[in-house]
Amino acid sequence: MTIIPLWTCDALVAAVRGRVQGAPLPGITGVSIDSRTIGKGEAFFAIKGDRVDGHDYAANALEAGAGVAVIAETRLGEMPKDAPLIIVPDVLEALRMLARAARARSQAKIIAVTGSVGKTSSKEMLRLALSQAGETHASAASYNNHWGVPLSLARLPASARYGVFELGMNHAGELTPLSALVRPHIAFITTIEPVHLEYFRNVEAIADAKAEIFTGVEPNGAAVLNRDNSHFDRLAKAAKAAGVKEIAGFGENAAAEARLLDVALGAVGSDVRASILGQEIAYKIGAPGRHVVQNSLGVLAAAKLAGADLAPAALALARLTPPKGRGQRLVLKLPKGEALLLDESYNANPASMRAAIEVLGRAAAGQGARRIAVLGDMLELGAEAQALHAGLAAVLEEARIDLVFCAGPLMKVLYEALPPARRGGYAESAARIEAAVLSALAPGDVVMIKGSNASRMHAIAATLMQKFSAREAATA
Ligand SMILES: Nc1ncnc2c1ncn2[C@@H]1O[C@H](COP(=O)(O)OP(=O)(O)OP(=O)(O)O)[C@@H](O)[C@H]1O
Ligand SMILES: [Mg+2]
Repeated sequence: MTIIPLWTCDALVAAVRGRVQGAPLPGITGVSIDSRTIGKGEAFFAIKGDRVDGHDYAANALEAGAGVAVIAETRLGEMPKDAPLIIVPDVLEALRMLARAARARSQAKIIAVTGSVGKTSSKEMLRLALSQAGETHASAASYNNHWGVPLSLARLPASARYGVFELGMNHAGELTPLSALVRPHIAFITTIEPVHLEYFRNVEAIADAKAEIFTGVEPNGAAVLNRDNSHFDRLAKAAKAAGVKEIAGFGENAAAEARLLDVALGAVGSDVRASILGQEIAYKIGAPGRHVVQNSLGVLAAAKLAGADLAPAALALARLTPPKGRGQRLVLKLPKGEALLLDESYNANPASMRAAIEVLGRAAAGQGARRIAVLGDMLELGAEAQALHAGLAAVLEEARIDLVFCAGPLMKVLYEALPPARRGGYAESAARIEAAVLSALAPGDVVMIKGSNASRMHAIAATLMQKFSAREAATA
């Protein structure tokens, strides 16, 4: 069997208009910016990342099996003798050029996903659903920024029938160039919420920044928008103004083109009946939460607009599992029995916090056991931060969470808003609340851990997993 390379070296050199030195492999198997995970025969792009400069790792990458390194002219002197190199003026620009070439040669239906929350969840759901219809390429992890998007696009195989790309932003103006690169046939906005408020005047400004995604949509393209979100009209108007031909709303709203007809929310998954662009369908989702159901409506609308067969796409969603740190369910072996950990520790904002608390509220705790929330600060919320933390008291109340542990200066506001019976403990940091959580945990309990990444709540989850030999819980 012959393996078709992602790029021939010639095509890559032409795309980035580089100068070759040494003897690169004729077939390039992949594109990477990380020498630690690079695969054999891949092209290593020495870009300046958030913390490090790839040029310092080009030699490592080549030693680890890279077929060629793409480097800046100014750093040529530092490279090992006889190394296979492609030399360019600017490596990040070269990555963008390769991304453009990938897009230009592609016959795939391209979907771009953005939104305040749920981008990765929806992207992974689309990967699952579209894979039933044909070869599907999707961004890795949350690669959604100025280097993540071109990298993901440069990895799009010529043979792919569907391409799914996550687009993210923290500031106005960031989505326009990313969307121009991806040129989606379908722009999918999961929802608009107060996230990264620090960098925006208000939530309307966030909606306008997300609407930049429409500027890159292909002629006769479509937008998939959350019909239940209060910013729907604003987004729909922006889409039309940008020339987007078709707009599909998704949600419970009677006017939604992808409409929820009926749902049974369970502890480990959901049963859904929906009408997707005129076609009625029933399906199961293998991960719990109303927010997951909401995302699934947009996902199926996008899949159908992309030309996929709806029935197999929907059927595949039963196999969905919550990823690490985003609702992964783990069984903890306590000395006297088992407890369940819902690991939500990857990140948090008011919307995902609410969603996770609702899921905890529906989780099946053992007889006499408790539903326990361990919450760390939600960051980057600007002036409304305190109110948004205090506001969770009502959500915890409604979900009938038995015990709440809070960590961080912002979570102190929530802790003080809780009725005394629900207070488990407070400390100023994740590290300092850990012992109290450990000693409170009893057989049958369900414990959910969540906070912004920088709040370091994942360290508590890691301790629980390690100390109580965690194993993945059975799925739906
Ligand atoms: N529609 C939604 N509403 C509220 N919460 C959601 C929604 N979709 C997903 N979530 C929750 O939000 C959290 C983050 O989800 P996800 O990683 O998909 O978001 P993201 O937009 O990709 O985030 P990032 O900006 O960090 O890349 C998870 O805990 C997930 O369960
Ligand atoms: Mg993401």
